[in-house]
Amino acid sequence: MDGNGRWAQQRGLPRIEGHRVGADSVRDVTRASRELGIQALTLYAFSSQNWARPADEVAGLMDLLRDYLLSERSEIMDNGIRLFAIGDVDKLPPRVTEPLHALLADSAANRGMILTLALSYGGRESITRAIRALARDVAAGLLPAESIDLDRISAYLPTHELPPLDLLIRTSGEQRVSNFLLWEIAYAELMFIDTPWPDFRRAQLHECLAQYGGRERRFGLTSQQLSDADV
Ligand code: FPP
Repeated sequence: MDGNGRWAQQRGLPRIEGHRVGADSVRDVTRASRELGIQALTLYAFSSQNWARPADEVAGLMDLLRDYLLSERSEIMDNGIRLFAIGDVDKLPPRVTEPLHALLADSAANRGMILTLALSYGGRESITRAIRALARDVAAGLLPAESIDLDRISAYLPTHELPPLDLLIRTSGEQRVSNFLLWEIAYAELMFIDTPWPDFRRAQLHECLAQYGGRERRFGLTSQQLSDADV
């Protein structure tokens, strides 16, 4: 969800205003995704590296997250959305973890769509944590080292309950992944679009999905193999 800061600065506003309008995009895109029947939507809301931002911006983002969790609670519950979180969430302040843990627990049985917030999240941090847990289980004799394969590694990642990642969209013109879902993007379609996140609403999501529909996902196979498998 990149480009909030620049969006605000271009309008002579403090950066936090960009995040505030960005939170409105979160609401619109989540609602649209639910209506479209998307199974899982994951939003990169705060990275492990974002802690190093100016203290007032971090505090403002934490306030926005808290407001969001409180204000969206009924919409999430009424629409059968399951809220999920990945990242080092225990680093977040209690004013965020309290409503977060409550909504994670209360929405756990919802089956409509999984809305995952990546909070204090880093892809490399997440892989490191998985390797540490795997090493611990091997050392404890719970797991032979030979059993470590792609599926086993996936199972130790926090995303293991999510469906395979199909599409990753980065807004605001930067063409990099910035430590997001590094393992999971292996065969995802990547889309880099110029619109800054505060201007990214359902219309832009529809455009991205239309473009996605035109892509051929080959997963290492040839086009011929894919069309043969279709018939
Ligand atoms: C990146 O833009 C965005 C963030 C670090 C925060 C994203 C947070 C929100 C959209 C609002 C709160 C979240 C939820 C789920 C309600 P940037 O600040 O790096 O933009 P820039 O590159 O233009 O400076």
